[in-house]
Amino acid sequence: MIAAIITAAGSGLRLGPGDPKAQRMVRGLPLFVYSLRTLCANQLIDHIVVVVRSDAVDEVKDFIAHDPIAGPSSTEVNVVAGGATRQESVALGLASMDAGVDHVLVHDAARALVPAEVVEAVIARLMDGALAVVPVIEVTDTIRSQVDGVLGVVVDRNSLRSVQTPQGFTREVLVRAHQSVGVAATDDASLVEALGVQVVGVNGSPEAFKITYPTDLIFAEALIDQQEAGSR
Ligand code: CTP
Ligand code: MG
Repeated sequence: MIAAIITAAGSGLRLGPGDPKAQRMVRGLPLFVYSLRTLCANQLIDHIVVVVRSDAVDEVKDFIAHDPIAGPSSTEVNVVAGGATRQESVALGLASMDAGVDHVLVHDAARALVPAEVVEAVIARLMDGALAVVPVIEVTDTIRSQVDGVLGVVVDRNSLRSVQTPQGFTREVLVRAHQSVGVAATDDASLVEALGVQVVGVNGSPEAFKITYPTDLIFAEALIDQQEAGSR
């Protein structure tokens, strides 16, 4: 059985004043609902855990129950309280999974507009036997290192990739990664890699960008408008 964790328990400080990012209303829907609907529509995902700030659990449960797409979906959706860091939020989501789950996707609510094809590609590679899968895209900026305020050398961008979500794992590997003490990481694949497990890449998408700054929100709204115009 495949399950997904949606991490939605952050504050969204970089997005500026307003509701926490995952609950921020974007074109009439809380941000987390966009990727929840996409994951609910994937027939291979049986169970989704949405991890939200503890003060938002009841409100989010209520919203999902009344959502015309996620509400009636055959996918079981649970809502649990997250922690102080993303890593803690993933661990809390993982701890709430049913016994029958053998593969887990971890997805950031902030990557609200992830295309269904990216989710499908990650699952396909997992079903092919990979233990850890991440969507990646090429880096478009020229990247330079900087240490203690001093600019260093340019890093060859052809050898670099930006890593997105959903990231997919066998449950066993992800649980083991989260049990390894002393490692702090911004994503789950980094934790898994610290165990010596190979992480494989599939094609990500520019549309799976992480909404972080106010300008990202403007881009997201434009994409939503374009998608709605296309489906009319
Ligand atoms: N997240 C989480 N629990 C936390 C922190 C973050 O579940 N304690 C989630 C966020 O809700 C987001 C994802 O992890 O979907 C990626 O984090 P980020 O983009 O940094 O979001 P925020 O932490 O909310 O934003 P900021 O860092 O600007 O405050
Ligand atoms: Mg953050």
